[in-house]
Amino acid sequence: MKKIAVLISGSGSNLQAIIDNTSNGFIQGKVSVVISNKKDAYGLERAKNHHIPNYFISFKEAGTAEKYDAQILQLLEKYEIDCVVLAGYLRILTPKFIAQYENRIINIHPSLLPSFGGHGFYGEKVHEAVLEYGAKVSGATVHFVDNGTDTGPIILQDTVYVANEDTPKTLQQRILRIEHQLLPLAVKMYCENKIKITKIESKRTKVEIV
Ligand code: GRF
Repeated sequence: MKKIAVLISGSGSNLQAIIDNTSNGFIQGKVSVVISNKKDAYGLERAKNHHIPNYFISFKEAGTAEKYDAQILQLLEKYEIDCVVLAGYLRILTPKFIAQYENRIINIHPSLLPSFGGHGFYGEKVHEAVLEYGAKVSGATVHFVDNGTDTGPIILQDTVYVANEDTPKTLQQRILRIEHQLLPLAVKMYCENKIKITKIESKRTKVEIV
């Protein structure tokens, strides 16, 4: 049974989807710890409701990104974590963190990467940009985290239609519904060792579900 850490900054609806899918046996894994960089993140309440150890770590108190991530890494060691899931976590991880958990950190992004990702594309800003561009489909991407922002190898994607009358909010809600399917599915596959990672010639890393 793989031990999962979930990092959050907000509502934690994706965290909830993972918890539910571990409780019902869909994911052969256990959420062992939840860590938030926001004190009032509702996701911390969700963790408490399920008796999952949960921590708020203050960036202000840590002072630097390195010291901040060192605190997280300590917790990951303490709980013997196999896999880290970023579920709406709004901090960029330090290279040391990423190197230590290479191909073991999974992120969900609410667009079809590589479109509408990278620096500044978070929350409603992603959906605003999709609508402004006039894209006819959008979706969600689950990927491993590398040193770039939203650039890591893609594990799974799914699409939604974009309606003429959509607002960033309505599009966000439509995408959130597929996120709640897609993220647990990727975590399930990870826990069952079904994600094969190969380096290809272009040096891009390719992911296949086997
Ligand atoms: C999701 O849209 C996710 O793709 C993005 O942040 C949002 C988090 O929502 N990275 P929640 O906190 O899981 O409800």
